[in-house]
Amino acid sequence: MARIANKAAIDAAWKQVSACSEKTLKQLFEEDSNRLSGLVVETAKLRFDFSKNHLDSQKLTAFKKLLEACDFDTRRKALFAGEKINITEDRAVEHMAERGQGAPASVARAKEYHARMRTLIEAIDAGAFGEVKHLLHIGIGGSALGPKLLIDALTRESGRYDVAVVSNVDGQALEEVFKKFNPHKTLIAVASKTFTTAETMLNAESAMEWMKKHGVEDPQGRMIALTANPAKASEMGIDDTRILPFAESIGGRYSLWSSIGFPAALALGWEGFQQLLEGGAAMDRHFLEAAPEKNAPILAAFADQYYSAVRGAQTHGIFAYDERLQLLPFYLQQLEMESNGKRVDLDGNLIDHPSAFITWGGVGTDAQHAVFQLLHQGTRLVPIEFIAAIKADDTLNPVHHKTLLTNAFAQGAALMSGRDNKDPARSYPGDRPSTTILMEELRPAQLGALIAFYEHRTFTNGVLLGINSFDQFGVELGKEMAHAIADHPENSDFDPSTKALIAAALK
Ligand code: F6P
Repeated sequence: MARIANKAAIDAAWKQVSACSEKTLKQLFEEDSNRLSGLVVETAKLRFDFSKNHLDSQKLTAFKKLLEACDFDTRRKALFAGEKINITEDRAVEHMAERGQGAPASVARAKEYHARMRTLIEAIDAGAFGEVKHLLHIGIGGSALGPKLLIDALTRESGRYDVAVVSNVDGQALEEVFKKFNPHKTLIAVASKTFTTAETMLNAESAMEWMKKHGVEDPQGRMIALTANPAKASEMGIDDTRILPFAESIGGRYSLWSSIGFPAALALGWEGFQQLLEGGAAMDRHFLEAAPEKNAPILAAFADQYYSAVRGAQTHGIFAYDERLQLLPFYLQQLEMESNGKRVDLDGNLIDHPSAFITWGGVGTDAQHAVFQLLHQGTRLVPIEFIAAIKADDTLNPVHHKTLLTNAFAQGAALMSGRDNKDPARSYPGDRPSTTILMEELRPAQLGALIAFYEHRTFTNGVLLGINSFDQFGVELGKEMAHAIADHPENSDFDPSTKALIAAALK
């Protein structure tokens, strides 16, 4: 039986979405004096202002029809219940169990795994590994991007340990850390869901070599495994007390809540990590309970689908006006593009609408002096997100933070209003959409809620597109070919261009 049962209703709802009247943002504000309160959502210590998007009551009605046609409620329930919604891999999707949501057995298992993590952190604090100053975290993709973001965003000033996250197989990345860290005071965390990823295993081996070379007595004893494949870590000689497992049903790009978040929990302390989980849980409750027109992830997904399918936007830009969130766009690139960068639906048919945006971004105010020219006057439509904290965490003249926020707000206002000039080169078309996400201060709870918001928005986009957001077969072919080139560079099956590259560089 087809998994997408209501194709006719879905097509009709999309037609209704496309037939909505097009009004400018200026018109929408003029026509509805309650627009702002209608499109601002405050939840989980975050304030989302969607009013500078082209959503209005007509579009909301059409998109709610689409939600219904896509069986959204059932799909969301299935996600929260821990059903096997990742159909191509026959797995449940249970990262929310780490935040206390889902099947009781999965929540209990997550608690048990968190307790193991906490025990190890307490042992490290108590000196079980001698003096420890540094943690070298080795992983890639979802096993690196989340921890790296958390460390950079939350522990810059206050980290209890010095953590470096190395992902790239390019030896320069590891060597840079070797220069800074004392091998005798370093622990190595090898983070890999599968514990087979080639880059991670090679980096782990080289880190061991580095320790040996510097006379560390038992390098193996300083290695910690963060993995959903504990058997493989055991095989490699890692003691059970230093294996921090997580469930197979947690996707790599959703795994920072699990033991993959170990470096953040170590550097922040357990309480801080707990607050991160609670922030995520607050967003889970909001996503589950709030009506669609007041539901931040759902509204964001409506806007995504509108700009993508109706207005033809190809990308969306994430600009944090906060130096500590400079890694957020990289984290979100994997979350959104690996989840929804698909071309077939749950029944294996080609989808009718463009899939995930290309996600990109940067930090304000830097980006204003580099890429905002295109946003204001270029020919492409790029929906933008501004993210900022109201409270300053620097100790300099308060004018710094005030200037930062002033600029964020000015950019959103300018993109929307535009400005006419008789010289076309100095004219701004305006009517360009943005969403502003504000938090009182950037702390673990707020970051947890923000990340969970993006997770649920990604899920909602996946449901509206009828795709499976939880597999990633698109990355496999390249991996296979890399093995093939490494094992048989002389292979005559490669195309002439690739053969010439191999001949030039890999003889
Ligand atoms: O190649 C893509 C991918 O499978 C990601 O989905 C994943 O986050 C990353 O590789 C790392 O995988 P692992 O955690 O198994 O090392």
